[in-house]
Amino acid sequence: MTKPPQESTLVDGFGRVHTSLRVSVTDRCNLRCTYCMPAEAVFRPREELLTFEEITRVVEIAAGYGVSKLRLTGGEPLLRAGLHKLISMLRGVQAIEEIALTTNGLLLPEQARPLADAGLDRLNVSLDAVAEEAFQQISRRQGVDRVFAGIEAAQLAGFKKIRVNAVSLRGLTESQVVPLIEYARSLGLQLRFIEFMPLDADDAWVGSDVLSGDEVRTIAEDAFGPLQPTPGPDSHQPASDYVLSDGTLIGFIDSVTQPFCATCNRLRLTAEGQFRNCLFSTEDWDVRELLRSVGSDQQIAEVLRECVRQKRPAHGIGEAGFQKPERAMYEIGG
Ligand code: 5AD
Ligand code: SF4
Repeated sequence: MTKPPQESTLVDGFGRVHTSLRVSVTDRCNLRCTYCMPAEAVFRPREELLTFEEITRVVEIAAGYGVSKLRLTGGEPLLRAGLHKLISMLRGVQAIEEIALTTNGLLLPEQARPLADAGLDRLNVSLDAVAEEAFQQISRRQGVDRVFAGIEAAQLAGFKKIRVNAVSLRGLTESQVVPLIEYARSLGLQLRFIEFMPLDADDAWVGSDVLSGDEVRTIAEDAFGPLQPTPGPDSHQPASDYVLSDGTLIGFIDSVTQPFCATCNRLRLTAEGQFRNCLFSTEDWDVRELLRSVGSDQQIAEVLRECVRQKRPAHGIGEAGFQKPERAMYEIGG
């Protein structure tokens, strides 16, 4: 029997259907997290960044091939002037069912309300430590109180199910596990611990820096009692969910020790207009040139489909022949 035509969806060579697009809107950031950026970062000239119209066009084309979920990332997306306008524009793309944003939270006190009004559905706030000293060691900047204020502003603006993403780093965040759980629980936030992946700019990642999900679970269990695994709401979610006996839900993204590549449905668009099929992609597929010349929608779609076709089965961290991408996290989009 011949296979049914799969012309209208973004299926790769391993049968994975891609429905989620992460769009970076800037490589700039107001923090300098060691796992993502160098201390002295050099950013792209502004004219290289896709305009809101260009991003919306790409999203419309991707939506025609089955993309229904968007996540805006950076750098720090809230540094992109007028971001709420982009959200309103993307809201107008019919097939898009959900628009989410990943932010470090520093600018949420000013922006939570306009973001909510523009129709943003979900917020993820990155917060690795609740103690200012640890926050500074990780982010090379001050400001944990501003992140707390940002999260409160987002709750007041009506965001529900705000998620807090905490990267776990050996020697830095062990002491933060319990206070982070307490903080998240007190405000009804969904906490997720993420293993440190080799996406730093300084090429300093070594396997022994990864504070594994297993280790974080042990710290949590020592303080709060047993964690029970519980099925997550979305089969494509990278996190494994657990609950404490009082019902507190904690997610773990064990991206290094338990890769979830087999169910990956995500694609990325960098701030300067290149598709990538994986965080660990060593290639990118440029669409900016097509957008800025007379490229047709068809041609842009073909670049996207080729990017999907070339996707590898898994990131291969820790395996022989693993190649770290040349770009650090802030140049890809989280
Ligand atoms: N490893 C794991 N997570 C990372 N993030 C950024 N760099 C890394 C890395 N090297 C996280 C951020 C944010 C999300 C976009 O990705 O903390 O939560
Ligand atoms: Fe900025 Fe996020 Fe990178 Fe930290 S992880 S430097 S907050 S982009």
